[in-house]
Amino acid sequence: MFHSFDTLVIGSGLSGLSAAIEASKYGSVAVIAKLYPTRCHSSAAQGGIAAALGNEEPDSPEWHVYDTIKGSDYLADQDAVRTMCEDAVGTVIGLEHLGVPFSRTPGGKIAQRRFGGHTREFGSAAVRRACYCADRTGLAIVTTLYEQGQSRDIRFFPEFHVLDVLMEGNRCLGAAAIEIRTGQVCAFTARATILATGGYGRVFRTTSNAIQSTGDLPAILLEKGLPLEDMEFFQFHPTGLYGLGILVTEGARGEGGILVNGEGERFMERYAPHIKDLAPRDMVSRAIITEIREGRGVNGKDLVYLDLRAVPAKTLSERLPEIMNFCRTYMGVDPAVSPIPVVPTAHYAMGGIPTDRDGRVLENETGVAAHGLFAAGECACVSVHGANRLGCNSLLDTVVFGRRTGEAAGKIKDMPGAFSEKEKLLEPAKNMLSEIFGRRGDEKAGAVKKDLQELMMHRCSVFRNEAGLKEAMRGIEELKERARHISVSDRGKRFNTEVLDAIELGRLIDLAQTIAGSALERKESRGAHSREDYPERDDKNWLKHSFVFKRQGALEFRYKPVTIAGFPPKKREY
Ligand code: FUM
Repeated sequence: MFHSFDTLVIGSGLSGLSAAIEASKYGSVAVIAKLYPTRCHSSAAQGGIAAALGNEEPDSPEWHVYDTIKGSDYLADQDAVRTMCEDAVGTVIGLEHLGVPFSRTPGGKIAQRRFGGHTREFGSAAVRRACYCADRTGLAIVTTLYEQGQSRDIRFFPEFHVLDVLMEGNRCLGAAAIEIRTGQVCAFTARATILATGGYGRVFRTTSNAIQSTGDLPAILLEKGLPLEDMEFFQFHPTGLYGLGILVTEGARGEGGILVNGEGERFMERYAPHIKDLAPRDMVSRAIITEIREGRGVNGKDLVYLDLRAVPAKTLSERLPEIMNFCRTYMGVDPAVSPIPVVPTAHYAMGGIPTDRDGRVLENETGVAAHGLFAAGECACVSVHGANRLGCNSLLDTVVFGRRTGEAAGKIKDMPGAFSEKEKLLEPAKNMLSEIFGRRGDEKAGAVKKDLQELMMHRCSVFRNEAGLKEAMRGIEELKERARHISVSDRGKRFNTEVLDAIELGRLIDLAQTIAGSALERKESRGAHSREDYPERDDKNWLKHSFVFKRQGALEFRYKPVTIAGFPPKKREY
């Protein structure tokens, strides 16, 4: 089956929907997604979207720019940060006008709450900057944008799994995808293709990411010789439900929750004396792991408590209803009565497909862009988050850069060729499926994936060191070999999730290798990349973005300077 559109968007989360709506002003748009569109991982975003509206107290986009750069440990490109933060106010008002049901102040304005690392007057105190819809902000925005998408020239293709990006030299022609329901492989050709497939947190055992967050498209581009940027920077959110990894929004601390160790101590007072529990995530996650390592976990276990008992009951029920439900359902804990057992959970990839500010995919560290190929949102690296993202800047990133990308993609006028040999477009995807069906062996994708996730969790998570990273690289090679012996017992075509699991596992292994490999190369500590053997930030040698390529199966590294525009690096204190 062959489809042709002006713009093809892969992924139906907030960056994909924002891009699709914008691109639809210029021509026809197709959105293909692995799941039903509103089941995208953006729907799981809880706490809010950052914008210096100043509805609850004075705020300014300039303070937002400063906080984002400082939060990034000075690795973010400062021109891109400015683009995002200055567009934030208009973006949130625009969402309100589209119908997003934001929570309200008593006076009827969009309500705002505190979030980690967001301050007023360049770090003087925490500021209310996160605009929210209780603790279902992502779902509320996704639903609104999906509704908006229905009234435009956008065709949704749910449950299509992308197998290949169609490239002719440096020109993208579209993508090949398998329709999960039938097993049919289809080609989608387009003037412009936008990758908006979210993150790849499933590389780790404990994660807040959905099952589908397997980084398929970054891994496909890597295989095609395109680079990935800053892969060593993976954010651990401090508060995942113990044993599960499910997110407990930072909004819980924004509303007054505190972290306590096994001795009942509010330990963040020692690590960030000024803004305490509202320090950036990299610092809070390191603090939690340090407390646990030094024997101050709760009851000697690898967890601490998030204590919401001082938060008024009305606030809990009105602003954190999902968290209350999650805790009761999954943990048997009522947060109004008992503290919540939490542990850092793999949450967000700062690294990804390098792009410019209009989402054009970069072919290399010199800034040359591929033609007709775009990326936005978590799968991309523009780079506004640098080494550590501030909470609520992710939803902002998806909408701001999703829209910009949709506009740039929509304006592409030249069409790919007439495809005299259309079937050839599908050959690589079909060959990959045949190869997987032809494998003989006694490995199963689930078992190999579990071992990968354990390895990455133990050797490449909040703290890293050379010996552990080398072990991770060796282990990943072994897992690659095991993956070659995965056999598929379901020989059918319809809903063959066993084949898809094998494909996703291959993607995860490739991305894990870039994460561990980039982490091994970067011999400093910055943001979420914390090397025990190189504990200091080293601006002299490492104030630069890493670009990792795959060449003949081996990783190759190149580097690109960080854009500094107004805020030279300083020591980060909170
Ligand atoms: O804590 C949270 O609600 C997460 C927000 C984010 O990652 O931006």
